[in-house]
Amino acid sequence: MRILSGIQPSGRLHIGNFFGAIRQHIQLQNEHNCFYFIADYHALTSNPLPADIARYSLDVAMDYIALGLDTQRTVFWRQSDVPEVTELTWILSCVTPMGLLQRCTSYKDKVAQGFSPNQGLFAYPVLQAADILIYQSDLVPVGADQKQHIEITRDIAIRFNSAYGEVFTVPKEYIVESVAVVPGIDGQKMSKSYGNTIEIFEPPESVRKKVMRIVTDSTPVEKPKDPAKCNVFALLKLFACPEELADWENKYRRGGMGYSEAKKRLAELAIEYFKPFRKKRDELEKNPDYVIKILGDGAHRAKAVALQTLAKVRRAVGLDLTNV
Ligand code: TRP
Repeated sequence: MRILSGIQPSGRLHIGNFFGAIRQHIQLQNEHNCFYFIADYHALTSNPLPADIARYSLDVAMDYIALGLDTQRTVFWRQSDVPEVTELTWILSCVTPMGLLQRCTSYKDKVAQGFSPNQGLFAYPVLQAADILIYQSDLVPVGADQKQHIEITRDIAIRFNSAYGEVFTVPKEYIVESVAVVPGIDGQKMSKSYGNTIEIFEPPESVRKKVMRIVTDSTPVEKPKDPAKCNVFALLKLFACPEELADWENKYRRGGMGYSEAKKRLAELAIEYFKPFRKKRDELEKNPDYVIKILGDGAHRAKAVALQTLAKVRRAVGLDLTNV
């Protein structure tokens, strides 16, 4: 089975990215043929500074490799190193109804937040569909917020196949529900755009500071607390073993525990959890050329697949003059 996913280069990766995506990406490579890429074309829709997009692309690559991406088995590249995907985007645009994109909630949300949208943002799901379809992907592991984009991809694939013949594999999304939403320090979904993240490779001192700032309610120490409503507990769930978690649950319900006790433990657990990968991350930071080479090799392998699909597409839609 071919698994594919894209990761936006929006800076150093955080705990929400890890439990929402990276962990699954890394596990999947043991059993499947995985294709993962850094979605730098997508990032351009929010007009980042040129220096930032380049730096962030390297950060994401370094974080993934440090966390255990096996770049021998898995194809790992930068989206823009295979520009064929933009040609497919155009061709798919021509079978994509406007209404399909107008219903897209991620676009509507951005507009509601006051973004003045560019055409790239509107067409974002078509580029994403091209990413998925050009590599003939079967399964797309993503966060719950991406579900609609995968549905749009399926819709586009089905429309194309029924108009021009069976060219594309129709993919499915793969969402791990139990960890789909990780709260940030303000209690909203952890996200770079909310500025509420804890980075995976953040210095331990800074992890401790941020954890202490996690928003909790004002239940006094002696009173019982509801773990289900607590951001600290939601994060403890990710890091503590089942026995320890049961213990915290009792402490919450019994009363007599202050949130700062739970926070202190959470910080230590989170630091410990990522400790084994820090050394590798530090080495990669000193060796960007090595990372650039890995991405180049990945692009080469990805391109071979993309060219095959694109040849079929060109022929199917009538752009191949040797096939008149
Ligand atoms: N839109 C995805 C996100 O923001 C990133 C992405 C781009 C992607 N292309 C993709 C994810 C293809 C899966 C498959 O997370």
